[in-house]
Amino acid sequence: FVWMIYFTCGKQTISPKKTEKNVLFIIADDLRPSLGCYGDTLAKSPNIDQLASKSQTFLNAFAQQAVCAPSRTSLLTSRRPDTTRVYDFGSYWRVQSGNYTTLPQYFKSNGYLTMSVGKVFHPGIASNHTDDYPYSWSIPAYHPTSFIFEKKKMCKGEDGKLHANLLCAVNVTEQPGGILPDMESTDEAVRLLKTRVSDDTPFFLAVGFHKPHIPFRIPQEYLSLYPIDNMTLALDPDVPILLPPVAYNPWTDVRKREDVQKLNISFPYGPIPKDFQLRIRQHYYAAVSYMDSQVGRLLSALDELGLANNTVVVFTSDHGWSLGEHGEWAKYSNFDVATRVPLIFYVPNVHYAKWPTFRVYLPFLTENMVELVDIFPTLSYMSGLIAPEPCPDFSFQEELCTEGDNLDAEKVAFSQYPRPADTPQENSDLPDLKDIKVMGYSVRCWYYRYTLWLGFNPKTFQVGIQASHLPGKHENSLSLFCSAVCLGLRIRLH
Ligand SMILES: *[C@@H]1O[C@H](CO)[C@@H](O)[C@H](O)[C@H]1NC(C)=O
Ligand SMILES: *[C@@H]1O[C@H](CO)[C@@H](O)[C@H](O)[C@H]1NC(C)=O
Ligand SMILES: *[C@@H]1O[C@H](CO)[C@@H](O)[C@H](O)[C@H]1NC(C)=O
Ligand SMILES: *[C@@H]1O[C@H](CO)[C@@H](O)[C@H](O)[C@H]1NC(C)=O
Ligand SMILES: *[C@@H]1O[C@H](CO)[C@@H](O)[C@H](O)[C@H]1NC(C)=O
Ligand SMILES: *[C@@H]1O[C@H](CO)[C@@H](O)[C@H](O)[C@H]1NC(C)=O
Repeated sequence: FVWMIYFTCGKQTISPKKTEKNVLFIIADDLRPSLGCYGDTLAKSPNIDQLASKSQTFLNAFAQQAVCAPSRTSLLTSRRPDTTRVYDFGSYWRVQSGNYTTLPQYFKSNGYLTMSVGKVFHPGIASNHTDDYPYSWSIPAYHPTSFIFEKKKMCKGEDGKLHANLLCAVNVTEQPGGILPDMESTDEAVRLLKTRVSDDTPFFLAVGFHKPHIPFRIPQEYLSLYPIDNMTLALDPDVPILLPPVAYNPWTDVRKREDVQKLNISFPYGPIPKDFQLRIRQHYYAAVSYMDSQVGRLLSALDELGLANNTVVVFTSDHGWSLGEHGEWAKYSNFDVATRVPLIFYVPNVHYAKWPTFRVYLPFLTENMVELVDIFPTLSYMSGLIAPEPCPDFSFQEELCTEGDNLDAEKVAFSQYPRPADTPQENSDLPDLKDIKVMGYSVRCWYYRYTLWLGFNPKTFQVGIQASHLPGKHENSLSLFCSAVCLGLRIRLH
């Protein structure tokens, strides 16, 4: 496998398009870049790797907050969490902050047929119990019916009985309906693609897969891709001695699963026994391969239906996941493993290597930091629409603007994470807005990440130093500090 990554998807380098392209937007849940195309030698992800081999693959892409609803709201509105004011699962941005136009809504208003399959918006309050239909979608969002079983007692334990386990490799034919949610979503997405073949209306089809989110309820045959003897622990499996307690979160959702409860793991720092750590890692990777095979089915359908040469394909995830690194088994933090995501852009009929300014980078030498808020303007532009204008400093009244950049912009990546206290609590993973007392702002540049934890007032949304809108603004100390660090490192390393 040869690493050839072309980092030029800039406005200057693409010739204007005559017609709009279709969009297939694929988002996985809790997927860190444990993929072959990201250099993970254990991962078996042939379908995503094949997509990456003809795409722009962003090695340093970061989510704005490492939990579903805030990250998805941020990605889909192209506004940072401090502008959506969605930090938990309990509010809908149109009510909470502003009537922001979403990515699919923008395509819809430009004549696209927009469709949602699976988990795209975070369901429930965060998208007004409709996945933001009818604003974002032309037809009501589709959810796989088999998802109702996802967190139930569906996993055969060692005692032969059914449990609500974390590790949940199943015989699919024995599951209700003989199917799992992501398979059902793929079936529906393929069905929708078939309806588009002889229709000239451009489409925006978003497909949200549930895996590799816990529980690892997956077809059992995927486990055999990862023999337990081949599994290794995280490179840094222990809680660092000098870790500030505010940075740590106690992964309570994992602890609540029946098989993990049985292990009597001490709160908040664990650890999980090593043999069980290996099995979690095995199941996560197997879940990635299972999800990858669904991506393969989608991309094959696109090819077979003759749509591939006129459809932009984006593959990404809402945030990453710690697979035992620094003693954690979760998202819910500002750590690199929790914020870093895969991001792959396939644009048909663009021959990257022929672009006049193309640059080739080795994976570990690329300095391009990109963020999920960049997807909205870049995807709009790549599909043939006009990218939204950058947001002004205070943009609550602006329905359409972006806090992202074109994906080739030189910059740093910001993430943030709230905490209810400066030591780990039962609700440190995902505090309700009213309980937030601390906000951690994190900036990633080059090889380094710098995180600053500040006091936060959930009534006024003020943070404990003067700037009330830290990320992305160059006049504040965090950004200045980090720019200096990045610049210093760049000069040294070049
Ligand atoms: C929000 O935006 C939508 C779509 O543009 C519009 O139909 C709706 O009236 C707006 N709502 C408010 C409260 O402004
Ligand atoms: C949310 O859904 C409710 C019930 O369908 C509806 O009355 C309300 O207008 C929606 N909110 C917005 C902001 O559209
Ligand atoms: C899966 O379950 C079906 C129905 O019970 C059974 O016939 C089949 O042998 C099982 N497959 C495996 C691999 O256990
Ligand atoms: C497991 O590791 C062995 C030894 O490195 C290797 O030969 C084998 O291919 C691996 N198995 C799988 C399924 O990756
Ligand atoms: C966990 O604790 C329970 C009760 O305190 C005990 O019966 C059980 O043996 C313990 N299990 C392990 C794996 O230590
Ligand atoms: C895409 O492929 C189909 C069938 O191969 C062909 O008819 C069509 O013209 C192609 N479209 C573009 C935009 O290249």
